[in-house]
Amino acid sequence: MIEARELCKNFKDKKRGVVKAVDHVSFSCKAGEVYGLLGPNGAGKTTTLRILSTALKPTSGTAIINGTDVTVDPQKVRSQIGFLSGNTGLYGRLTAREMVTYFGNLYGMEKQAIRRRSDELFALLDMKDFADSRNEKLSTGMKQKVSIVRSVLHDPPVMVFDEPTNGLDVMSSRTIVDFIKHCRDSGKCVIFSTHIMSEAMRLCDRVAIIHNGRIYREGTVNDLLQATGQNNLEDAFIKIVGE
Ligand SMILES: Nc1ncnc2c1ncn2[C@@H]1O[C@H](COP(=O)(O)OP(=O)(O)O)[C@@H](O)[C@H]1O
Ligand SMILES: [Mg+2]
Repeated sequence: MIEARELCKNFKDKKRGVVKAVDHVSFSCKAGEVYGLLGPNGAGKTTTLRILSTALKPTSGTAIINGTDVTVDPQKVRSQIGFLSGNTGLYGRLTAREMVTYFGNLYGMEKQAIRRRSDELFALLDMKDFADSRNEKLSTGMKQKVSIVRSVLHDPPVMVFDEPTNGLDVMSSRTIVDFIKHCRDSGKCVIFSTHIMSEAMRLCDRVAIIHNGRIYREGTVNDLLQATGQNNLEDAFIKIVGE
């Protein structure tokens, strides 16, 4: 479903010169699998995910999303993915229902399909009480739910989550984590990034350790623990990037 092939992205920075934000990154992720990009700030997670979601063009290399090359047909790729970050902007003046309808139109969905699908998601995420309140009145957790609905309204087979629990309280984080599991269980291919080791341990079928734009190692959490002789992912991480 997702196949990254030798992805590279260089940025020109006035102070730092050429920054290799993503440096020959390759991996693949199947339907029904949660793949985690685990790395500290500046590791290259967001840049990688933005290339997969066609917001950025790679300097070299490419990625194939559900059979379509991001550099060849980005429009088609966009119809195949849902993208969610920790700080997805919402229009404050609109209600959840209005905003979701607006995005449904952008996705090219039929009016009835938008209605059916948003009702289904409002129920699933327990949002009925606030689906008709203006977004600006909502708590952070409620806003995050609106963002979720917006990102999956068109029922894409591939989901991309960029540090989706960043800045959320425990309850809201739990909603996101449960939603990621729901996506996996309904057969979606899920890639998500985090710097939180415990989240990666709980959620990921496979993990890539990313640092300085490079993937140092990948495998199941157990693979990484065994290979490093550690009993928690944090120590394994330090060992892997310290080598
Ligand atoms: N638009 C940009 N211009 C210059 N440098 C950038 C830009 N975007 C990201 N970078 C740099 O690329 C590296 C990777 O950033 P990013 O992908 O955001 O990492 P992460 O999401 O893992 O924190 C960092 O060194 C960051 O400063
Ligand atoms: Mg980031």
